[in-house]
Amino acid sequence: MRSKPPGTSARLRVDRRTFLTGGVAAAGGALAALGASAAVEGVRSAGDGACSGGSTAAPDALGTAVVPFRGEHQAGVTTPPQSFATFVAMDLLPGTDREALVRLMRVWTEDAERLTSGVPPLGDTEPELAATPSSLTVTVGFGPGLFDAAELVELRPTWLAALPAFAVDRLEDAWSGGDLALQVCANDPVVLAHAVRVLVKGAQTFAAVRWVQGGFRPAVGTLPEGTTVRNLMGQLDGTRNLVPGHDDHLIWNAGEPTWLAGGTSLVIRRIAMDLDTWDAVDRPAREEVIGRRLSDGAPLTSTDEHDEPDLDAVNQLGLPVIAAYAHIRRARSENPDERFLRRVYSYDDPPAPGALSNSGLLFATYQADVARQFIPIQQRLADLDLLNRWTTPVGSAVFAVPPGAPPGTYLGQGLLEG
Ligand code: HEM
Repeated sequence: MRSKPPGTSARLRVDRRTFLTGGVAAAGGALAALGASAAVEGVRSAGDGACSGGSTAAPDALGTAVVPFRGEHQAGVTTPPQSFATFVAMDLLPGTDREALVRLMRVWTEDAERLTSGVPPLGDTEPELAATPSSLTVTVGFGPGLFDAAELVELRPTWLAALPAFAVDRLEDAWSGGDLALQVCANDPVVLAHAVRVLVKGAQTFAAVRWVQGGFRPAVGTLPEGTTVRNLMGQLDGTRNLVPGHDDHLIWNAGEPTWLAGGTSLVIRRIAMDLDTWDAVDRPAREEVIGRRLSDGAPLTSTDEHDEPDLDAVNQLGLPVIAAYAHIRRARSENPDERFLRRVYSYDDPPAPGALSNSGLLFATYQADVARQFIPIQQRLADLDLLNRWTTPVGSAVFAVPPGAPPGTYLGQGLLEG
């Protein structure tokens, strides 16, 4: 756990406008002079493990836990999911060119480093809200349009485009697309709201908010560490997933294109659940839809959550125990490369007049290559998956997630200055 956050010092009172309008060289100089890294130096890192929120951690330790911002990869991808997430997509304003993007990325990098370390960013109007970072992570993504604005079209990854239209989709503009993405996660919703506001304010001369989606998982401390969490359909969701450290080649891009080495991609699909009609489905049928038991998440052919499902097993009638249309049968491919890291959050928004609920999943996935890994599985599920009867994709966006920013660099530098 980190020590107490450094207090605001004189160097934090530098006028943000001077910083924003000072041009690339001046901004770089200002960054160095301000010593953003130095400001957070001495902050003892709690490491990735801290953000999974062990039930034994004292409340103040949860508040002061820090996930390191600087590094080879951006935080918030393989970081164990925090309790709360806000996804923001922004549209670049006319005139936001490559030079302006450099300025924005310098500001976001510095602000994110400070916020995630418990240090208020420059000009923070509520600096006290930055004091307990609560495992805050800020992850930045680039949408297809950013490459046009920066006149770097030749460096856009081939897969960076809207996903193909799937038969199950009922997409709404309100939850789709975007030139820039922020995934901001923390174990405290107040800290999270403050961080999102600071980052969005910092971008206001360059970009406008397109959509915001908030999600949640069980609060830290309510479940033993490492427990698979449940979604709002009541299922254990996340049992079989990529394992950071083991499946890294499927998570991190190897350098196609070169600037993306150590980066990844984010697909975010908003999937509405029709919980009102799901209510009519009895327990055995609910288990058949997925192919796993509700009580403990074990495959229907076995007894332990982490047992391998036996897809060849048949019942007394000779029918497959895990049905042909079961979600887990359809969601896996024989091609071991067709896998991705699911980092999902539930949402539960106010229902439309006359409806009882408006819930679902913010289905966020990270993968080295969207076309090779994500699209074939989404296509399989769109073709056949009984779960589709109660779930509907209503939003969809794809972003390239640049590699992390080691000390002395800013996010996206390899693209914008490469
Ligand atoms: C609201 C929509 C969805 C719900 C409620 C849901 C729920 C679940 C559940 C309960 C499991 C079994 C436990 C586990 O291994 O995590 C699962 C597995 C999985 N789901 Fe989904 N899912 C949804 C949408 C999707 C979509 C859209 C995709 C892909 C595009 C997907 C891909 C997967 C994969 C790859 C697995 C692991 C399959 C395996 O290897 O056994 N899911 N999902």
